Amino acid sequence: MELQEKILEKLNQQLNNELYAAYIYQAMGAQFEAEGLEGFASWMDAQTREELEHARKFYDYINERGGRVELEAIDKPPSDFGSPLEAFQKALEHEEMVTDKINQLVKLAREEDDYATESFLQWFVDEQVEEEESVNAIIDKLEMVGDSDSGIYLLSKELGRRE
Ligand SMILES: [Fe+2]
Ligand SMILES: [Fe+2]
Repeated sequence: MELQEKILEKLNQQLNNELYAAYIYQAMGAQFEAEGLEGFASWMDAQTREELEHARKFYDYINERGGRVELEAIDKPPSDFGSPLEAFQKALEHEEMVTDKINQLVKLAREEDDYATESFLQWFVDEQVEEEESVNAIIDKLEMVGDSDSGIYLLSKELGRRE
């Protein structure tokens, strides 16, 4: 069954959202690099790679279903996200927005009886739960350390151990 135009359009939009997410995380990484917080920066690098993989999943799925991938311009991300706590709070906000978009896509797939797309999206529904949870856990720790430079340094080191 061919992909419906409406669904194809939303899948292409989500491909762009994932690329923008990669861009935001890379911009956060660049800020942390500049501030000497290498652990946070490498956590952001890992996150950037994950978002690129997410984008690729949409790319492959659209192609598998015989749809046409259309790449749009990627918005310019901010270059300054404030303190590490503020940066991770912005990351959480962004993930919540993505979760909302994924949920809207699932809803549309259901309404249009596109069960293949609904099944494809299930992976993202689960992934978003993990994404929000991992960012939330980091926010909790950042709130605990507060303004302590040594606390921030140690937390950055801990996050740098992420594969
Ligand atoms: Fe993603
Ligand atoms: Fe994400």
